[in-house]
Amino acid sequence: MNAPRGTYDVLPTETSKWQYIEGKIRDWCNRYQFQEIRTPIFEYTQLFQRGVGDTTDIVQKEMYTFTIHEDSLTLRPEGTASTVRAVIKHKLYAQPQPLKLYYMGPMFRYERPQAGRNRQFTQFGLEVLGTEHPSIDAEVIVFAYQLFSDLGLKNLKLDINSVGCPKCRKDHKEKMMQSLSLIRQDLCKDCDTRFEKNPLRILDCKNETCKELTKDAPMLINHLCEDCNDHYSKVKTYLQALQIPFNENPRLVRGLDYYTQTAFEIMEDSIGAMSTICGGGRYNGLVEQLGGPATPGIGFAIGLERLLLAMEAQKVEIPTMNHTDVYAVSLGQDADVICSQWVFELRNKGLSIEKDYLSRSMKAQLKAADRLKAKHVIIVGETELETRVAIIRNMETSEQQSIPFEKVVDYILGGIQ
Ligand code: HAM
Repeated sequence: MNAPRGTYDVLPTETSKWQYIEGKIRDWCNRYQFQEIRTPIFEYTQLFQRGVGDTTDIVQKEMYTFTIHEDSLTLRPEGTASTVRAVIKHKLYAQPQPLKLYYMGPMFRYERPQAGRNRQFTQFGLEVLGTEHPSIDAEVIVFAYQLFSDLGLKNLKLDINSVGCPKCRKDHKEKMMQSLSLIRQDLCKDCDTRFEKNPLRILDCKNETCKELTKDAPMLINHLCEDCNDHYSKVKTYLQALQIPFNENPRLVRGLDYYTQTAFEIMEDSIGAMSTICGGGRYNGLVEQLGGPATPGIGFAIGLERLLLAMEAQKVEIPTMNHTDVYAVSLGQDADVICSQWVFELRNKGLSIEKDYLSRSMKAQLKAADRLKAKHVIIVGETELETRVAIIRNMETSEQQSIPFEKVVDYILGGIQ
């Protein structure tokens, strides 16, 4: 039976790639002093309606919502709203600031599946709460950069913009509506809806006609209030100081309603069409909007499927995480029992061991050891059982040693260290 459209299985040959990436992510979180938060996979629907925004594509068309015993619940389409809800619920805002949190796990959006776009996908996200300092905006962006370059990714493009605050947005909204009122009827259906509810999002429309029609529309970046302007230019100063190349994109608005000031996306083009692997920005009003005290926030999320696709497209070598220290080859039940004792002991000492469970021929067992690239093979055939001396073969050098049974464990441990 097929898995549902837009979902996929990660088979054992692929999981080690995921583990490698996840390991790197946790390592970088540690270096930057981010702590992990785990929230439920589903939340009350209201959280996303209020947090992500009623007019967004996510809330309008992409949520997996179900009702159970009169509760309307939704599989989380993203992690920011849930993180902020948990921060408010557990009063984490009362702890020393800034809070630096991260999460990694499945998200759900009912989108049209294609390469790098799934209905169940995995995000790694960061959220920093409790500071408006522009250096943290830059740090969040730089985090993604350092992680990507550590993973061996090249040719990334960073777009940044400022989407201002409610004050500058109010003035800009009027200007936008004035400027677009004459061409409204030529805009796409989605933009027509956005016109009333959130005209800023029209700038972000991917439809070529809308792009062309709005090329002279007033860009918010040119109408920022003094505070937002100052904040934006300081963020750029930090990025320049850290030599992070960026492109200022006045059309970058992002598809979630909570953003204020800094908005950014990191793209990579080898998956096909320029694909966004990381998107984020500041959200200074969200905590308050969800019922907490006024607390500024900023974060990003990286789509791990897209990250992996980009690494594969760029032919980045991903080291395999699986290894086999020892393979135990035995012939017959008595030899197998003895091998089982060594296997038990060596696993207790932390080694990774495989043995035969199919009573196969010695040749077949050695082949299996080869396939697993085992470093050492212990061999106990009939002669070895009689003389109580095992053969230990170093598979890298092909050297063989005869080792008395009682010394096998120590010999292996000495050889591996
Ligand atoms: P977003 O731009 O909606 O932002 O998603 C972030 C990333 O998740 C995207 O750049 C992409 O890599 C990945 N992604 C999104 N949808 C899909 C999909 N259907 N299939 C595969 N990958 C996907 C957010 O979710 C915000 N919560 C980010 C954030 C955190 N902003 C502030 N803090």
